[in-house]
Amino acid sequence: MNAFEISTLKEYNTARENSFENPETFWDDIASNYQWQKRWSKTLNWNFKEPKINWFQGGKLNITENCLDRHLKNNGETISLIWEPNNPEESEIRMTYSELHLAVCKFSNVLKSKGIKKGDRVAIYMPMIPELTIGVLACARIGAIHSVVFAGFSSQALADRINDSTCCAVLTSDGMYRGSKNLAVKTTVDQALKSCTSVKTVVVIKRDNSDIKMTETRDIWYHEAEQEVSDHCPAEPMDSEDMLFILYTSGSTGKPKGIAHTCGGYMVYAGYSFKNVFQYQNGDIYWCTADVGWITGHSYIIYGPLLNSATTLMFEGVPTWPNAGRFWEICDKYGVTQFYTAPTAIRALMALGDKWVKASSLNTLKVIGSVGEPINKEAWDWYEKVVGRGNCPIVDTWWQTETGGIMISGLGNIGKQRATFAGMPLPGIQPVLLDMDGKEISDDGIEGYLCIKYPWPSMLRTIYGDHQRCKDVYFSNYPGYYFTGDGAKREDGMFRIIGRVDDVINVSGHRFGTAEIENAINSSTLVTESAVVGYPHAIKGQGIYAFISLEIGNHDDAEVNNSVVSAVVESIGHIAKPDIIQIAPGLPKTRSGKIMRRILRKIAEGKTEDLGDISTLLDPSVIDSLIKGKK
Ligand code: WT7
Repeated sequence: MNAFEISTLKEYNTARENSFENPETFWDDIASNYQWQKRWSKTLNWNFKEPKINWFQGGKLNITENCLDRHLKNNGETISLIWEPNNPEESEIRMTYSELHLAVCKFSNVLKSKGIKKGDRVAIYMPMIPELTIGVLACARIGAIHSVVFAGFSSQALADRINDSTCCAVLTSDGMYRGSKNLAVKTTVDQALKSCTSVKTVVVIKRDNSDIKMTETRDIWYHEAEQEVSDHCPAEPMDSEDMLFILYTSGSTGKPKGIAHTCGGYMVYAGYSFKNVFQYQNGDIYWCTADVGWITGHSYIIYGPLLNSATTLMFEGVPTWPNAGRFWEICDKYGVTQFYTAPTAIRALMALGDKWVKASSLNTLKVIGSVGEPINKEAWDWYEKVVGRGNCPIVDTWWQTETGGIMISGLGNIGKQRATFAGMPLPGIQPVLLDMDGKEISDDGIEGYLCIKYPWPSMLRTIYGDHQRCKDVYFSNYPGYYFTGDGAKREDGMFRIIGRVDDVINVSGHRFGTAEIENAINSSTLVTESAVVGYPHAIKGQGIYAFISLEIGNHDDAEVNNSVVSAVVESIGHIAKPDIIQIAPGLPKTRSGKIMRRILRKIAEGKTEDLGDISTLLDPSVIDSLIKGKK
């Protein structure tokens, strides 16, 4: 048996035992399946106090040699990437491993020709086109740290992220297609760069031929630059603990956090988890519908599949355009074997009726996956019966930007499954539930704070530029543990994730801090103060409910709505638009001035019969007006 592959329940149990008894030997075996330029001298060196986490110390590698070069001999002609365009009438692209390798080498040389080198940060703001994957890998090949920013973020959000990690370059495109829309991309970058002095180079991919402005001293067209460079680019030797990428995510406070992942550990775990969760076999066609702008896209569109010489499908468009059958037509068109999507998409498609699914055969599907938020029973059942036709296991994969890879999930059809349960931890992962006092809960069926008590290779190493914040957010509430921010319960060793226990809300699988949205809303000149909470939303999982207090004067609802929505769209992007805006004459505050969100959450949920203890409120009369004003 090769330790890397788990194909039976017995192998899973053995792997799990080994990983607990002797973690270092366990991970040594897994890591030995990759190509290292120099073997590591120490497997693990850690403490959760500082925190300091080092995996495969002393090892040298380049992740792109493992994603590309390593496969050329036996799989050079295997398809690495299939790209399905937004418009089904445009032709798809299929790239073999040899072709992808060549494209990455060229892109790497373009970056090098602009003086970009190891350790430099490069922002990538691009639609879902092959050059996004190629650009990410090109950064990794030359040792530049990529920071992909989802192309739905506003220019201001992009600027904040570029400045936080002082990126020297941006990779982008002229424009993009998304469903029926043709959107500007480069113009947004131009706008952002007005406040970013660190950016010296912008590399522009031609996608929609839109008329854009090029700044001569800064901007280059990729298709021109590519003509000037060689096909050959040796991979930069990287230390295991050199940074591979930064990816921004939201926390309870206003400012997004630049989660930093490193080369060796991330590679080892992304490849291992992909192989086993999806039970990928040669010849399979794997499709993850996420955007590369999120961690799911990093680990399970790009790195995980390519590390396994898999065929990974990348889709530029949206599930409902030109019609609601698009996902399923793509599955049939390519014979997709593993399909990985989010509950919000499942619920949205479920609401449109079975006929769209039934128009496709879906008879190649073997494993179907879910990620990003808890999946409710109704959506689970529909996914299993209608999409999976009752014969595909659902892998409900729980993980986070910070964990780098899937932590809790079924592995294909190995072992038992329970609807709405993510399942058992992967080998090497030691999740626990803690009570309010930080004690481990040993009984089943009791809700607790989900923490992880032992390091795993792909865990975050720091928050870029703010190690103290990393310590405060993840390692201080429960000393000795990594705190996930989620609540969960356990039954028969299987975990069911309940949801966030902090001020983070999860809207259609996108994560926002309530403070981040409040800051945006408060930038409207009409608003004096605001409080944002999540509420249950049938399609999105959670919706955004904003209570706002206004400046004195008469304002009609439409004026207020416009002002609040545009403030959010400007500072974060369309994805964070409030679903409900309620004008509140006052917000419920304690005597010390703290807003009691607990009460606002109840009001937003419409559960006003039981508001709990309101005796600490400064002015209890605000409650009545809030309830009356409920939308
Ligand atoms: C948060 C992390 C990791 C990929 C996408 C989101 C929630 C994620 C599940 C799941 C229930 C889930 C958690 C987590 N979450 N997957 N299968 N079941 N909840 O990454 O933006 O870093 O968000 O998403 O609340 O903490 P992210």
